[in-house]
Amino acid sequence: MYRTKYFDLLNTPTMLDYGAYLNCERLLTCQKELDKLCNGDELQFQIVHQVEELWMKLMIYSLIDILEGMQQSHTLKVLNLWKRVHFLQTMMIQQLDLLETMSPKDYQQIRLQLGNGSGQESPGFRILLKMPSDLWQVFDEVYLTGRGKSVEQIYDSEYCHDDSYAMAEALIEFDELLQKFRSHHVYLIQRSIGLEAKSLKGRPVELLQNGVRQRFFPALWDIRNRMTDTWGGEYGQVRESISQCPMHR
Ligand code: HEM
Repeated sequence: MYRTKYFDLLNTPTMLDYGAYLNCERLLTCQKELDKLCNGDELQFQIVHQVEELWMKLMIYSLIDILEGMQQSHTLKVLNLWKRVHFLQTMMIQQLDLLETMSPKDYQQIRLQLGNGSGQESPGFRILLKMPSDLWQVFDEVYLTGRGKSVEQIYDSEYCHDDSYAMAEALIEFDELLQKFRSHHVYLIQRSIGLEAKSLKGRPVELLQNGVRQRFFPALWDIRNRMTDTWGGEYGQVRESISQCPMHR
């Protein structure tokens, strides 16, 4: 009874300006028809993926603004856009957890519907993977070479928390959140189909671990290692204990 009552309401388009502007009728019919869903979790499965594609579309659009903004040295505006991108990435990571409310059996039923489709075909993710090389190139041209600075200088020998440093930290945050997304996604797979499974293309799921280890801006990760080595030169690999020092008693 409730099903009929509310399915009818969900299937009835409202002809008001809100829906007209937001294209609600098309948006809300992008999912399988309600009475054709294979189980109670399939709608959630489709919506989570669709929402994530929308967030990636917005992220790509914002990253284009970031590329152009960096070219014009509009640092404050670009840092605000980075805040948006990082927020979107954080939401994407959190939203994966929705699918952990799905039972392994419900997912197996959904999986039968997917053909050989795979997340590796995600249009948004494919574009996102192409963007870091352009982001690095523009950052280097404008905030490093363009200002006669090296990564070492902005982080250590001439560290003053300037625009170049702030931009580098925004880039590394983006890189780290991409890794976190990939690693969170591996946990989701472990929870639903198990890590020893094969993807619907027949590839071992464990190959996804290579993606988790991928670093898009290696120079920004390496500087941390080099700083630890350089600063550590003062005390060698193991430091003296400070507990015997009178200052700490
Ligand atoms: C129960 C839920 C999910 C399962 C079991 C799952 C499973 C998988 C598997 C097995 C792969 C490897 C595909 C291959 O080798 O061809 C993959 C890749 C991928 N999936 Fe999912 N996935 C799930 C949910 C999601 C969601 C909600 C998203 C949101 C965007 C997503 C995005 C991706 C992406 C972007 C890749 C490529 C990852 C990379 O290249 O590192 N997946 N997924």
